[in-house]
Amino acid sequence: MKRFSIRGLVILLFVLIAPSGVWAGSDGYVEKLINRQCKSCHRFEGKPTSKFELKAPDMMWSGVKYQSPWLVRWLLGQEDNLYPNSYRWDKSYGFSRKHMILTQEEATLVAAYIEKTYGDSRIKKSFVDMSTFTEMEAGLGAGIFREYSCLGCHQIKDDEGNKIGGPISADLFDAGNRYTLDWWSRFAENPQDFTPHSGEYLADISPRKARHIIGYLMTLGVKDFKYYEPWNSEAFKQADAKRGAKVYKEYCVQCHGVEGKGDGPGAKGLDPKPAVHADLPLADYPEDYLYNLIYYGGKSVGKSPNMPDWGVTLSPQNIADVIAHLRSTFKGE
Ligand code: HEC
Ligand code: HEC
Ligand code: HEC
Repeated sequence: MKRFSIRGLVILLFVLIAPSGVWAGSDGYVEKLINRQCKSCHRFEGKPTSKFELKAPDMMWSGVKYQSPWLVRWLLGQEDNLYPNSYRWDKSYGFSRKHMILTQEEATLVAAYIEKTYGDSRIKKSFVDMSTFTEMEAGLGAGIFREYSCLGCHQIKDDEGNKIGGPISADLFDAGNRYTLDWWSRFAENPQDFTPHSGEYLADISPRKARHIIGYLMTLGVKDFKYYEPWNSEAFKQADAKRGAKVYKEYCVQCHGVEGKGDGPGAKGLDPKPAVHADLPLADYPEDYLYNLIYYGGKSVGKSPNMPDWGVTLSPQNIADVIAHLRSTFKGE
């Protein structure tokens, strides 16, 4: 039998019969705490302002920026500082390097209050669907992180767990446990809307690449992030080689040739030449390899970029079908 807890029962009864005024009471308590303490450093109202006029990060949108468990941990002092050189690296004043710590009860109440109070109407549901985010996309996102200089100002961890990157702004190696996808996606669209002078590093990026970098950050620090595996999806279970032959004719024959001999009209002048499918045991190639090669193009698997990427053009079903066609037709015999 379960142990009976009088205390639990009393709390339960209290919750059931307490007039809502009691809870407004705890709101009142939290409000005072925020006004007296938090607001001596953070702003909870006002327009985005250069960090060089702030003492601490802005909290106007804090209700939608953080994942609740992270916010509670932060307020309990269980998280390391985010700014390696202190938030105001240009000043020597003030911050004792240890953030103020609340009790468990206060932290829970403050986090709940913040989430209820400090929303931001600019923040909509993200266009990125993490349930379809693949490991290849995370890899491409990691490339963009370097290509767009993110590493120049934000630290992440390398494969051995060492911190790498410039320590000028917030650490991002745990970003996937801290930010909400919706806030981070909107922030990425134009960081200046939140912190002027932070730069517009992603201004010229395509929606597809934006998905890669946004999704990549949401995987950082997440233990055993579950990547989507398209080759285990419904489309692959229903793949049809006959339909795939049609896709092959429309999109592949121009280079790979009608019979897969690498002699299509588009092959001339290409170096390296299109693969001779007729000589390759494509039936034995791993499904994920073929998927990534076709979806993201030759460069994604270390082959020539002259093998185009088809991810934008072909539907998931088209790709599943053309792979079924490759597998049933080319056995390398
Ligand atoms: C003495 C000044 C001070 C007080 C008081 C203070 N903070 Fe902070 N807070 C900071 C600084 C500075 C940082 C950035 C620290 C870092 O990560 O290096 C910070 C960071 C944070 C962050 C993470 C911000 C981010 O980077 O997104 C949150 C959330 C936060 N504080 C909430 C609160 C709340 C809630 C209170 C009141 C209970 C509070 N703070 C009180 C100075 C303060
Ligand atoms: C020249 C330095 C610099 C570069 C390069 C840079 N950032 Fe930032 N980033 C900042 C600054 C400054 C802020 C505002 C926070 C602060 O005051 O440090 C910021 C904020 C952020 C935040 C929100 C941090 C928070 O908790 O509020 C994220 C996420 C972020 N950047 C991601 C990126 C990504 C991804 C790239 C590359 C596309 C990038 N940044 C490139 C300087 C930079
Ligand atoms: C613009 C020409 C072109 C088109 C169109 C093209 N390919 Fe390719 N493909 C190439 C080239 C070039 C290579 C060789 C890359 C290398 O060896 O680095 C290649 C290689 C391949 C390979 C072999 C990869 C390996 O590991 O050896 C496969 C499989 C393949 N393509 C499938 C397709 C499919 C399926 C389509 C149609 C959806 C297609 N290709 C359309 C140019 C093309």
